[in-house]
Amino acid sequence: MSIIVRRLSAEEIKTEIHSLARLRIEVFRDFPYIYEGSSEYEVKYLKKYLDSSRAALIAAFDQNIIIGVASCLPLLDEDPAVQKPFVEKGYDLKTVFYFGESVLQKKYRGKGIGKAFFLEREKWAMSFGDYKLTTFCAVKRPTEHPLRPLDYRPLDDFWKSQGYIKHPELHTEFSWQDLEEKNETMKKMVFWIKRWS
Ligand SMILES: CC(C)(COP(=O)(O)OP(=O)(O)OC[C@H]1O[C@@H](n2cnc3c(N)ncnc32)[C@H](O)[C@@H]1OP(=O)(O)O)[C@@H](O)C(=O)NCCC(=O)NCCS
Repeated sequence: MSIIVRRLSAEEIKTEIHSLARLRIEVFRDFPYIYEGSSEYEVKYLKKYLDSSRAALIAAFDQNIIIGVASCLPLLDEDPAVQKPFVEKGYDLKTVFYFGESVLQKKYRGKGIGKAFFLEREKWAMSFGDYKLTTFCAVKRPTEHPLRPLDYRPLDDFWKSQGYIKHPELHTEFSWQDLEEKNETMKKMVFWIKRWS
């Protein structure tokens, strides 16, 4: 299986936006996100990556089909809910590059594509010369959550292996509709950081 991982051009984002939205919805249906996704919301969300000149979507291709995607952009171009904990703790926002999400179809996992997503986003972030930190956040779910599969393996060890440290003091809330819920509810998101200088 030969997989190519590379940054999408703006034209490609526009052409692929509906398949990227579908991919995100498919992957985020699983625990711990258990997200009842909407294409309309996802397409709107992905357009943010066209509006920020330093944003990037890194895609994994099998032949010419996108089977995974990871997102990143400067924290300054993110929503206030993402910026808030950094503002409150006195970080200089212009030195922080934020990694949105990584999603990969199940059958392609465990082959190094997740690591390539980190590497490509980090290379992109560091190419500007302005950023001292790369960061992302992860949802915090109770260990006894009823939809947690018995064989669920948290990604913490993977993130640590990529040089990221969990910062429980940096947290925020995102709202989305869980599967089997009627309305959106708030989810606690905790940040992880890698320092570059
Ligand atoms: C996150 C994700 C993109 C990782 O992709 P991947 O291609 O499987 O990751 P890689 O193969 O590059 O590396 C995973 C490494 O972490 C280890 N690991 C630790 N916990 C893991 C877990 N829960 N799942 C997969 N690998 C895990 C693997 O053993 C592997 O290390 P190794 O190469 O030393 O054996 C993929 O698991 C995914 O799409 N998950 C669902 C969506 C998600 O949770 N995204 C992250 C938050 S937005």
